[in-house]
Parts: sequence; C-alpha cells; structure tokens
Amino acid sequence: MGTIAEGLEGVVVTSTKLSDVDGEAGRLIIGGYDVEALTGRVSFEATCHLLWRGSLPSQAEEHALRRALGEARAAAFATLSSRRELLAMNDAMDALRALVAGIALPSGRWPDEAVALTGATAVFVAAYARHRSGAALVEPDATRGHAEDYLRMAGVDPHPARVAGLDAYLSTVTDHGMNASTFAARVVASTGSDIVSSITAAIGALKGPLHGGAPGPVLDMLDAIGEPGQATAWLETELATGRRIMGMGHRVYRVRDPRAAVLERALGVLEADLGADRGGSARLALARAVEAAATKTLARKYPNRSLQANVEFYTAVLLDAVGLPRWLFSATFAVGRVAGWCAHVEEQRSRGRLIRPASVYDGPRFTSAS
Ligand code: COA
Repeated sequence: MGTIAEGLEGVVVTSTKLSDVDGEAGRLIIGGYDVEALTGRVSFEATCHLLWRGSLPSQAEEHALRRALGEARAAAFATLSSRRELLAMNDAMDALRALVAGIALPSGRWPDEAVALTGATAVFVAAYARHRSGAALVEPDATRGHAEDYLRMAGVDPHPARVAGLDAYLSTVTDHGMNASTFAARVVASTGSDIVSSITAAIGALKGPLHGGAPGPVLDMLDAIGEPGQATAWLETELATGRRIMGMGHRVYRVRDPRAAVLERALGVLEADLGADRGGSARLALARAVEAAATKTLARKYPNRSLQANVEFYTAVLLDAVGLPRWLFSATFAVGRVAGWCAHVEEQRSRGRLIRPASVYDGPRFTSAS
C-alpha cells in the first residue's frame, strides 16, 4: 500500500516556468519577476504577454495585445445574443462556467486561444453583472485597456484610479503555482482535451469557498464586525462555532501572503486617488484591524500553525473600493486568473504527461456477489 498524500500537499507533479510560490519566505514570482515588481507597475496586458510569450512586451507588442484582447471582447460579445438565458443564473460563476463551456474556438496559433478566452471571460462576467442588475448590456470598446473596458461593461464608472486598482489586481492574480483551479486545468489538458474544456474545469474549481470563493464572505465579515473594537469577540465566536475565518490561512504560505501586501498597497493608492470622503479609508482601517485581530486569535487557537492573511482578504476590500458588487468578486478573480490557466494549458500540452495519480482502496472485499 502506497503512502497517501491527502490533498496532494507537498507533492510535486511537474515543473513550470510560469510562477513560483515560496511558502516559507512569502515570495511569489510570476514569469521571473517578484509580484511586487509587477503589481501596479505593469499592465494586465503586459503580464499576459509575460505568461503567454515569456517576456514583458515592448510598447508595440503591448499595444498589439491590447488591441487583440479588445477584438476578442467584441467577438465574445457578439455570441451573447443567442445565449442570453445563461445570464439569468443565480451565481456569476455558474453563468461564467456555462458561457465559457459553450465557446466554439477555432484552433489557432498560440496565444490566440488565450487571447480569445481572456477577452471572453471579461465580457461574460461583465454582462452577467449588467443582466443581474436589470440593466442593458454594455458593448465592449476595443480601443480601451482590458481593466478599463471590464469596468465599463460591468457598469462601473471607469475613473482612472479605479482602473489602476483593478489593473493591479488582475495582474496580481494571473498565476499562482499549482493551485487547485490551475491543477484542474492541467489535468484536463493532460488528457489531450481542448483548452475550452480545461478552462471550464478551472472555473468550477475556482468557485469553491476554499479557493476563489472567499472574498465576498470577507466583506460580509467586515460588515458584521462593523468596528475594530468588536473584532476579537466576533472572531472568537466564529471559531467557537467551528467556522473558518475567510481570507485567513493558506495551504502553502506559512507567512503573510505577499499578494495581501501588494493589494493592500494598491488599495492605499486607490483610496488616496479617489479622495478620503467616500468612507473607503475607514473600511481599509477596519480591514487592517480585523486582520491583526484574526492573526492573533488564530495564533492562540493554532499555536503550531501560522495562519495569516491570504490574497482574498484585501481582494475583498480592493474590489469593493473599485466599485464592483461582492457577488462578482470570485468571477472577477477568474477575469485575471484565466490568463494563467491558459498559459498552464499550453505548458502542459507542450511537455506534460497524462496526470493520473493512484488511490488506496479502503472499501469492502466480498468473496462472491451472490
Ligand atoms: N479559519 C479557521 N481555522 C482555520 C483557517 C481559517 N481561515 N485556516 C486553517 N484553519 C485551521 C484548519 O481547520 C486546521 O484545523 P484542524 O487541524 O483543527 O482541522 C488548521 O487550521 C490547519 O489548517 P491548514 O492545514 O493550514 O489549512 P489547509 O491547508 O487545510 O487550508 C485553506 C488552507 C486556505 C483552505 C484554509 O486556510 C481556509 O479555509 N481559509 C479560509 C478560506 C480562504 O480564505 N480561502 C482562500 C484561500 S487563497
């Protein structure tokens, strides 16, 4: 009987050039760069180029990719007229999964498929937001950057500060090692299946609250706590009832998730640019106080385990400040992460082997069927 690696923790399934997560040092490298060097410093389009082509783009290359993504958004929007009923689903991730699953993608040269899927994801999520709000869909504008157009299409005022905040977020979440949704995409790709099937599987994995479903509940938690002085009591009650604190803890990081720091920084910039009058600074102050209280409370309960803020904690506050509704947070995560999923599918295709682990049978063994 082999040794069971429940949850595959610590199991190395492949090598990748796309990103590296150092859980002990709290370091994330995407395409060779520390996440701190990318977030808020290069555009989402440039990060896509890094993942899909292996280098940051020249100005001309970035412009061309920006235009190609714009055209992909326009093409995806055109497919919506015959599939409007899928926008009526109760959950944004369900709608996204169904809409992506129905994409008919002509096989093209890499990275055309990645461009098409990344453009389509933004369009589908934004269209879902409009439909759910009872508003008319907003057509994409191929001349705009991806983050700006996503906000426009979702019905959010694309103030440059909001665009910059969202752009920083999308770059930050593009890729993150062998996380559950990326692994799901690679498992499907490893069978020789198509990229649309791979991305559909990844969306299903991202939906789960232990993966990409946490940021909405983080905002619910901040609302429930209300003010910093209530944090510890609220958190203790939550833990006593056996519930997990959303936005805290990570399978790999044993220190604070470096993405929490870069998103917290982007949030500070966004709040400063938007002006302090809109109450966002108070929300940021509350978030910081709750994070500090949660870190201490969890350390008391799990003295041998370091449970600190993960990417979802400040995602919640940042996306709220950007102006997106909380029911759109997980799907907005997909708008950024789809770039990484596509890159992993291509990598898996180019050098991967069928992913097929083993299991230990612990069911009954009967001697006969009669
Ligand atoms: N709140 C309360 N308890 C937590 C916790 C949290 N956020 N995160 C971990 N724990 C507990 C676990 O229940 C476990 O307790 P047990 O030994 O009594 O069963 C212990 O801490 C050790 O857990 P660990 O092995 O470090 O976590 P994991 O690898 O199984 O899970 C997560 C990692 C991310 C799934 C987990 O931290 C979690 O559920 N976090 C909240 C959801 C979230 O923010 N998800 C987004 C991730 S980016």
